Amino acid sequence: MLQTLFRKKHIETILADAQQQQEDGHSLNRVLSVRDLTFFGIAAIIGAGSFSSIGRACFEGGPGVILLFILCGIACGFTALCYAEFASRIPVAGSAYTYAYASFGELLAWIIGWALLMEYSIGNIYVAFAWSGYFTNLLEAFHLHLPDYLTINYLEARDAFRAGGVGDANYDAAGLAAWNTAPMLGNLRLIFDLPAVVINVLITWLVFVGVRESRNVSNLMVWIKLTIIVLVIFVGAYYVDIDNWTPFMPNGFRGVMAGVAAVFFAYIGFDAVSTLAEESKNPQRDLPRGMIYSLVICTTVYIILSLVLTGMVPYTQLGISDPLAEVFKLRGVKWIEFIVSISAVVAMTSVLLVFQMGQPRIWMSMSRDGLMPKAFQKIHPRYKTPSFSTIVTGLVVGIPLLFTNEKFVLDFTSIGTLFAFVLVCGGVLLLPRKQREKGRFHLPYFNAKYTYPIMLLAGVLLVSILQPGFFVSLLDVTGPDAAHNIPLLIFFAICITMAVLAFKKNYSLIPLLGLTSCLYLLTGMEPSNWAWFFVWFLIGLIIYFMYGYKKSQLALRGQ
Ligand code: ALA
Repeated sequence: MLQTLFRKKHIETILADAQQQQEDGHSLNRVLSVRDLTFFGIAAIIGAGSFSSIGRACFEGGPGVILLFILCGIACGFTALCYAEFASRIPVAGSAYTYAYASFGELLAWIIGWALLMEYSIGNIYVAFAWSGYFTNLLEAFHLHLPDYLTINYLEARDAFRAGGVGDANYDAAGLAAWNTAPMLGNLRLIFDLPAVVINVLITWLVFVGVRESRNVSNLMVWIKLTIIVLVIFVGAYYVDIDNWTPFMPNGFRGVMAGVAAVFFAYIGFDAVSTLAEESKNPQRDLPRGMIYSLVICTTVYIILSLVLTGMVPYTQLGISDPLAEVFKLRGVKWIEFIVSISAVVAMTSVLLVFQMGQPRIWMSMSRDGLMPKAFQKIHPRYKTPSFSTIVTGLVVGIPLLFTNEKFVLDFTSIGTLFAFVLVCGGVLLLPRKQREKGRFHLPYFNAKYTYPIMLLAGVLLVSILQPGFFVSLLDVTGPDAAHNIPLLIFFAICITMAVLAFKKNYSLIPLLGLTSCLYLLTGMEPSNWAWFFVWFLIGLIIYFMYGYKKSQLALRGQ
């Protein structure tokens, strides 16, 4: 049994299958260049994180949130290099799912595929909500007012109704108004976020009709959002008051880490480029470049943007859902507020588009391997897109839009994606070294034998000097800080194990650092999110054993 759970799909078999699909005419259109892929990367990265959730992170962490942007940038940088290595060796649409199939075997591949559902579909639920927030504000600018019960999700309105009044964390005047004015359908109040639902339908349609159309729309949106963000940075820099940068970490480093889900969410997306392997003209060369270029551009933008944002107004005024527009309002620069809102809508539309493209392509790969029903690999004869999977994705995003809330989906997405990133970095550690080939990306190899243990030791020393008593307090696993201490203890235990393995097996340093930094970010997640994550994980396992385990192509081939 154990052997079958870890049955691997060899890289040669994956490539031969892909070749066969192409010869049989079951593959997608190869139209994307390195520029398109870089643009798709930027399209997927800059969105709700930078226009919306960044506000809450600044509010909790103060100007010190810049450190978190740097930390997440480093973790994603190492991970992007690992994705690039895999993408150059296995240029097929399944992304991390396929990479795991080759390195860890079927069970973990399924788990990653399941986790990616959190990244792309659940992630898009958050983006659709944030999109709706900015879009509704834009309508207001044109004096068009949608009823409150059509601009909020049911749960938020219900929580607002249940809240104890002004001062309660769930108090929300718009939510309360929505609850009180909503029409009734039997006993049910008709409350849902109409703009979020409509944008999801439109995006699903666009992705359905073709990758070329999606590319053209996405490229245009990237130009618009980059231009406006650069404008925001330049205009905003003029209003920076350096006094706002002190205190730098008003709630300590723990306050900074409280924003980890939000800040990490802002970085998610570069990996979606790897799902476009089958549509890329030269995937082995261009996918790695597309991912790395887009991440470098976005990291630079984020660090400057967070400096400007926290410099423009005191951090206490940033705990809102449209911080980029709000800072200009607070500083009295009215003309740019409207431009920022348009840019936010455009930016989030492009994220929705790329994520909505990524999910069906992963399902298509899983279906080809027998882990999902055959319908998921169906390609539309005219549009050459995975038609059935695209529609199911639209439903998977659209239905929960009606009954979930923003904070939950944001945290859930970040935890699932980080988990997938950890496995991708770990997977690269297991890959055999390979001869260099011209025109392909190769991850540089630095031996971690001594460097990793030394870095770990240096890190521990640095923390002990900067925060004496840190490690002693960490051992308290029964007190009020237990929920934070236990993940950190597990993190250090994994680091020590990795140091031993690095020493014994001469591991490669870059994936090891990717793994370590992603694991560290995971320690910042709220304990309640872990509980949900494990429930999700369990449901995934049940589905696998009921379906994929028996129907897998490898099982049918007797492996
Ligand atoms: N990084 C993407 C965003 O912020 C998911 O919207």
